[in-house]
Amino acid sequence: MGIKVLGTGSYLPPKVVTNDDIARSLDTTDDWIYSHTGIRSRHVAGEGEATSSMAAEAARRALAAAGVAPEDIGLIVLATSTPDYATFPSTACLVQAELGCVNAGAFDLQAACAGFVYALEQARGFVNFYPSRRALVIGAECLTRILDWTDRSSCILFGDGAGALVLGNDEKESGVAGVKTKATTILGADGKGGDFIMRTGGTRETPAFDPNTGLPVTGGVIEPRLTLQGHDVFAFAVRKLSKVVGDLCERLGTTPESLDRVFAHQANSRIIEATARRMKLPLEKFWLNLETTANTSAASVPISLDQAVRSGKLKDGMKIVLVGFGSGLTYGGTYAVWPDF
Ligand code: UT7
Repeated sequence: MGIKVLGTGSYLPPKVVTNDDIARSLDTTDDWIYSHTGIRSRHVAGEGEATSSMAAEAARRALAAAGVAPEDIGLIVLATSTPDYATFPSTACLVQAELGCVNAGAFDLQAACAGFVYALEQARGFVNFYPSRRALVIGAECLTRILDWTDRSSCILFGDGAGALVLGNDEKESGVAGVKTKATTILGADGKGGDFIMRTGGTRETPAFDPNTGLPVTGGVIEPRLTLQGHDVFAFAVRKLSKVVGDLCERLGTTPESLDRVFAHQANSRIIEATARRMKLPLEKFWLNLETTANTSAASVPISLDQAVRSGKLKDGMKIVLVGFGSGLTYGGTYAVWPDF
């Protein structure tokens, strides 16, 4: 009884770009990339694909797994840093239309690579208050379209894809009067590290003003591109991943050793290995799929979850933590006993 995941789904575009493909136009090698990141290849959105279409396909698969009709969805929360349009309409609204979720509110949420954990928390609040409604939580990214493909230290890291889950609540009564959820969550941010990972562009830059009309001259906005201070992000990630997992367990009076699986954001396998070492946990407890997906930002945790469910490696009753970190800086984690949230 209570809030639970009813079904999961994911989508990775069929086009695959290997490290060797990148090495044909950039001063890098498969060996360097694999030894520094654990990545061998990434999926890349092709002709006609976009964040919304990948999100819709992942959501369709999650709805099918859950046996839930689109019209039973009351809320769509879509975590992304690469929406179809720079800001509006939201990608969540495009998905709402494509799937026919005619009874759903829909919005995008931007908390970078920690976005899915943030989105899940919004959806948990929704189904807690409205137990008869279902929520669709999606993480979807088309990162390969905002990369600087001449910057070998950042373009090698990212890939495209989407993951989704359907959340429901068996409780008869609304959670207004009390907490009905079984999971516990930590959400955090450290805006002082905002320049560690940035997508440039947007309205931050002051435009030129027309001397005659006094109006801003449009069209002068700089190209959106991803910039990264890799060392700083690496150190932050290892620190925060271990702290969040440790704090969640402490809050519940348990220990990280009792966890069956940790679904950490897939940014770099060296980050996950360093976290496992720091926490003295066997690496086998951490889900790892970077080799073929690379970093899919907000999509990485739900893609991992769906792969684990479909391969039978995530079973009912397993104690798990979902944990992410990213630009902002943001971080967040949720402890749950699968599939109860
Ligand atoms: O979701 C969060 C997103 N971001 C991250 O998670 C990033 C976290 N950080 C990282 O994953 C790592 O810092 C990187 C993989 C980005 C970089 O690895 P690193 O071991 O920290 O390398 P580095 O930046 O210290 O660079 C070492 C050398 C440099 O050459 P010099 O100056 O020593 O001659 C780089 O120019 O490696 C060079 N280098 C490369 N060489 C071949 C950087 N990228 C490449 C490359 N191929 N792709």
